[in-house]
Amino acid sequence: MPLTPVLAGQPAFYSITQLFLFREGRRSNQAMTAVAKTFTDDDMRGFSEYIGTLPPVPAPPSATAPDKARMDKGLALAQQHKCVFCHGADFSGGQQVPRIAGQREDYLKMSLRGFHDGTRPGYTQAMTAAVSQIPLEDLDTLAYYVARFPAPVPGSK
Ligand code: HEC
Repeated sequence: MPLTPVLAGQPAFYSITQLFLFREGRRSNQAMTAVAKTFTDDDMRGFSEYIGTLPPVPAPPSATAPDKARMDKGLALAQQHKCVFCHGADFSGGQQVPRIAGQREDYLKMSLRGFHDGTRPGYTQAMTAAVSQIPLEDLDTLAYYVARFPAPVPGSK
């Protein structure tokens, strides 16, 4: 659904920390707060482990081919800002770091802007530190790029 992330294949440790943040009212989202507030620790563990066993499903592809210039800019930004250092060269994440490859673009964009303006507090300061100095326009380019990763870009090898 719009603004709702693909969950399949998220590392269990990442999912459980987010469910904890929702349950404790530290990460706010009306729907998720309502759902998570009834969860016991065992529920959170069960859901997270289950999600982690599901094969990652790419978000539905967009109707148009990726824009090469924007994909190149996204790649350069991801290297410059060390996104790949924590999320992995294939953006598959691991442990407390989420998988972001192929995630919905609208959700990525909202999340990056949320870390940037402080409306989405992380479990740690990692993301706030990573994006606080990046201009919004570049964050949107990163969302564009990661959402289409690893889509073949026309005109590249
Ligand atoms: C120092 C390690 C680190 C770096 C560098 C980093 N991230 Fe993250 N990222 C994380 C962690 C850890 C989380 C989980 C956030 C939390 O603590 O709640 C995260 C969360 C995210 C999310 C939210 C995903 C979701 O499912 O909600 C996005 C999107 C994201 N990172 C993109 C990026 C991009 C783009 C960059 C480069 C500008 C980047 N990250 C750099 C560690 C990092």
